[in-house]
Amino acid sequence: MEGNHEPSLTDAEVRRIREDFPLLTGTPTVYLDSGATSQKPLAVLDAEREFYLHRNAAVHRGAHTLAVEATDAYEEARRVVAGFVGGAETELVWTSNATEAINLLAYSFSNATAGRGGEAGRRFRLGPGDEIVTTELEHHANLIPWQELAARTGAVLRWIPVDDTGALDLGAAAEVVGERTRVVAFSHVSNVTGAITDVAALVGLARAAGALTVLDACQSVPHLSVDLPALGVDFAVFSGHKMLGPTGIGALWGRTELLDAMPPFLTGGSMITKVTMETAHYLPAPTRFEAGTQRVAQAVALAEAVRYLEDVGMERIAAHEHALGQRLASGLAELEGIRLIGPPPGTARVGLAAVDVDGVHAHDVGQVLDVAGVAVRVGHHCAQPLHRALGLTASTRASGYLYTTTEDVDRFLAELAGVRSYFRVAG
Ligand SMILES: Cc1ncc(COP(=O)(O)O)c(C=O)c1O
Repeated sequence: MEGNHEPSLTDAEVRRIREDFPLLTGTPTVYLDSGATSQKPLAVLDAEREFYLHRNAAVHRGAHTLAVEATDAYEEARRVVAGFVGGAETELVWTSNATEAINLLAYSFSNATAGRGGEAGRRFRLGPGDEIVTTELEHHANLIPWQELAARTGAVLRWIPVDDTGALDLGAAAEVVGERTRVVAFSHVSNVTGAITDVAALVGLARAAGALTVLDACQSVPHLSVDLPALGVDFAVFSGHKMLGPTGIGALWGRTELLDAMPPFLTGGSMITKVTMETAHYLPAPTRFEAGTQRVAQAVALAEAVRYLEDVGMERIAAHEHALGQRLASGLAELEGIRLIGPPPGTARVGLAAVDVDGVHAHDVGQVLDVAGVAVRVGHHCAQPLHRALGLTASTRASGYLYTTTEDVDRFLAELAGVRSYFRVAG
């Protein structure tokens, strides 16, 4: 990465890391689908089990010792995960995943539009004439909730287009973001191209327009050293299962003054101070956004995942990913009949790359690779508009992580090189 001077992980260190991952030991599969979900180290599995074995109780309710211990573990997990992204515990709301976190924002904004949240909620109100801006390369999770919000409020959805390589057209962004823009939602790293967005440029445009920014950090927080407050965004979301944690846990990060001003999305137990038959008063953030029985064991296990990542060192993981990404991109660029999607080799990207194989459908590519013991993702990767913009319906994506070896990448490249001749489409 530019500006990253930490040494990459050595081959010996990556081999040592792999021993912590039960699913990666003793199986010949080359796992190159970490962009969809990561594998889990034993320490994370143990943390979840240990919680259920010794500390399980509902949090923020009971006065008994177990309930206090469980509550402490839950809130300690929040402190650890918030700190991992440069935030404070009051700034981190637990959700099921990133998708739920974006929906939480979109529904809170429409509740504000309906008049909930009083004067403080004005900031989030949208109506006809207002514009919500996203980009053409978003995961559907960062597109459809905004489409729905536009439909509910009468606001207009606009988007920053991609160029014909699949890179965001930042020149066009200056025309799309303007005085009507109220929200700018964009991803930090594309889950299809692996390219890293110029966050400062988009935050600058949004701020000049007085708009709120929402960063989809699903593919950056697991792979790069990310300081959300320093990036200048207002909100960000990420998923635990993509960063060595369990499924069922994700997070919304937001500036405290914004979270405290925003009306809640889900309502019910655990998020109130006083309830009468007519009205309810809500707790401050983050609790006001965590209605119902919380995801305690998952939060505790995600904190353990964060400790694991911090022990290895995020700067070193980022350097390793950079090396993997460049090896993938330059190896793919050399293969005949293979079109690399997104920025060319040499451009900053995480350890992820997607390709179109001329003459072979991505599902067939995936099947041949699977038989060869290489697990990749095929399809539209929940990014149909991006694929459509590039004239594609599907692509083949390889995505690595801290446990991915250079041999894994080379095996993928070697197997992919044979796919076109296997289907007799090689020239
Ligand atoms: C960039 C991006 N955004 C959002 C998501 C949605 O994540 P989840 O399904 O965990 O909510 C993903 C998952 O693939 C992603 O890659």
